[in-house]
Amino acid sequence: MFLSSALLLAAAGVANAHFGLDYPPMRANTLGKDVDPAYSQWLHPCAGVPSNLTDSPKTEWPLTGGSVKLDLRHQWTYVFINLGLGSDVSNFNYTLTNPFWNTTGNGTLCVEKLSLPADLPVEDGSPASLQVVTLDDNGNALYNCADIIFKADAKPLEGDDCKTVGVTYAPIQVSESSDDDDSQGSDDDAADDSSTPGNAGSATGVNRVALSSAVALAVVFVFGMSA
Ligand SMILES: *[C@@H]1O[C@H](CO)[C@@H](O)[C@H](O)[C@H]1NC(C)=O
Ligand SMILES: *[C@@H]1O[C@H](CO)[C@@H](O)[C@H](O)[C@H]1NC(C)=O
Ligand SMILES: *[C@@H]1O[C@H](CO)[C@@H](O)[C@H](O)[C@H]1NC(C)=O
Ligand SMILES: *[C@@H]1O[C@H](CO)[C@@H](O)[C@H](O)[C@H]1NC(C)=O
Repeated sequence: MFLSSALLLAAAGVANAHFGLDYPPMRANTLGKDVDPAYSQWLHPCAGVPSNLTDSPKTEWPLTGGSVKLDLRHQWTYVFINLGLGSDVSNFNYTLTNPFWNTTGNGTLCVEKLSLPADLPVEDGSPASLQVVTLDDNGNALYNCADIIFKADAKPLEGDDCKTVGVTYAPIQVSESSDDDDSQGSDDDAADDSSTPGNAGSATGVNRVALSSAVALAVVFVFGMSA
């Protein structure tokens, strides 16, 4: 059932909007012409690519969060990056994009360091997988996964290895309220904070920290691009 609607969508010409997960490298190639016919980015949760491929890359990722580089081929798309723990992940139940992003443009998006939830139970050597989901306005989702190993001495990508070209991104729920209302909002920061999306269930405010750094990254990036 699902597979046949996926094939219909592909036949309708939407397939050229696929995307690449360049870093950490995806489990197996799901983009372009030489894709194993069993794989399709329309398939949840990982494009049909199993977690037990013997030759799939296991990228070392810092314990405090690492880099993600995407090859985006849409005029714009929403992006979600999720994390699941273990070596055979079925449940990608930690989100690293809270709020998720609206990316505009066709090119490479590289984020040097994605923040992790502070209570994430990982240590040196913990296996995990990342799931990247892109979603369009009609709810059509594409999936790609990459396997990682958390390492105390792993480093994020830097400089030329992590260049963003042709793409801008903004966390979706924040972009509107951060436009022009700074003075108006300054009287009741506490109230604003308590309504920050993603705080539910977090007694520590950790999600708010992750949120702020995502906003900071986006701001740095937007100004960098206009220069
Ligand atoms: C991977 O798992 C699938 C199903 O769980 C199994 O059929 C397949 O043989 C496994 N492949 C390897 C390389 O272990
Ligand atoms: C993306 O860029 C390529 C090459 O620059 C171009 O051929 C293609 O039409 C673009 N796609 C979109 C959706 O803008
Ligand atoms: C995520 O899923 C794993 C495996 O199902 C579970 O052990 C873990 O407690 C879950 N974590 C959260 C925060 O839901
Ligand atoms: C996301 O970006 C696209 C292109 O810039 C825009 O058309 C769309 O309205 C944006 N979505 C939201 C929810 O802001």
